[in-house]
Amino acid sequence: MNKKRILSGVQPTGDLHIGNWLGAIRNWVNLQKEYDTYVCVVDLHAITVPHNPEKLKSDTLSTAALYIACGMDPKECSIFVQSHIPAHTELCWLLNCVTPLNWMERMIQFKEKALKQGDNVSIGLLDYPVLMAADILLYDADLVPVGEDQKQHLELARDIAQQRINSRFSKDKKPILKIPQPLIMKEGAKIMSLLDGSSKMSKSDPNENSRIGLLDNPDTISKKIKKAKTDQHYGLEFGNPKRPESDNLLGIYSMVTNQSKEKIRKECSAMGWGKFKPLLTDALISSLEPIQKKYNALIQDRSELNNVLKEGTENAKILSGITLQRLKEALGFLETTSI
Ligand code: TYM
Repeated sequence: MNKKRILSGVQPTGDLHIGNWLGAIRNWVNLQKEYDTYVCVVDLHAITVPHNPEKLKSDTLSTAALYIACGMDPKECSIFVQSHIPAHTELCWLLNCVTPLNWMERMIQFKEKALKQGDNVSIGLLDYPVLMAADILLYDADLVPVGEDQKQHLELARDIAQQRINSRFSKDKKPILKIPQPLIMKEGAKIMSLLDGSSKMSKSDPNENSRIGLLDNPDTISKKIKKAKTDQHYGLEFGNPKRPESDNLLGIYSMVTNQSKEKIRKECSAMGWGKFKPLLTDALISSLEPIQKKYNALIQDRSELNNVLKEGTENAKILSGITLQRLKEALGFLETTSI
């Protein structure tokens, strides 16, 4: 039986943090054997806000290296760079022409990011979710493993595929595009800022102390955890809405030690912040150490990384080409073979 397929990606903007890992990449790693897995570095998404051309290249390579360092196995999955497959931008255009503008204006992330940009909001920022829909739909993905913040974008991809393509252009009820499902895990879907347990940990937060980077060294991790926001209460607990920092840091501790919430609850319910923080620091340092070791090896000798990306690109080209051709035929484009 054919394996079901998953597709996902991370933007190469700044250093990846533990939210990207625990909310997305770690789930890809767990799924890659069971599913036909495609993961890309979504560099075209990274230029929807002002970007630094000097850094884009190195951030793109660094993100791909982190995928492998976190456990993505090139023998089990295809890893590629979004801009190396022109079909992404071509499908984006085709989808743009059928997507209503008011669907885009409703996107929460667009509204949030547009506020930060002031007068400098690009069309690309508005169009970002259509490009993301193209990323997913090109590969006939069954499932898209992401964090909670991407749920609305996934719903948009489903609506475009179903309401604007399949129901308008399919013949004989045969769908042209596959309708993907989001895969959002219960644990880790929304890792919060270290400085405010009610806002998401984010690459774009100007304060670096709000997040733990996957490449942070032990000293930096220790300093950031020391500065992490706490509260007045003694004893740590999950799920108390009045104590979001406790819930967030315990959740991170449970995930990086691979221990159940029940076990962590028992260990930490009678523990003060002063005792808990060094435990969390050690757990973070030791869970990131193997990732950093593998990452450093990959970045120092780029030949393995280059080969992985070349192979991933070949695989991605084949699949994406088939879907794009199918859609162009359905939309009535003149084929090159007929001239
Ligand atoms: P990006 O680069 O912002 O984030 C990459 C992945 O990390 C997840 N994530 C989090 N999960 C838990 N807690 C957090 N604090 C946290 N911050 C980020 C995100 O949900 C995401 O899964 N639009 C996407 C990239 C993208 C994409 C795609 C994803 C482009 N095309 C196609 C899937 C499929 C984004 O900006 O993710």
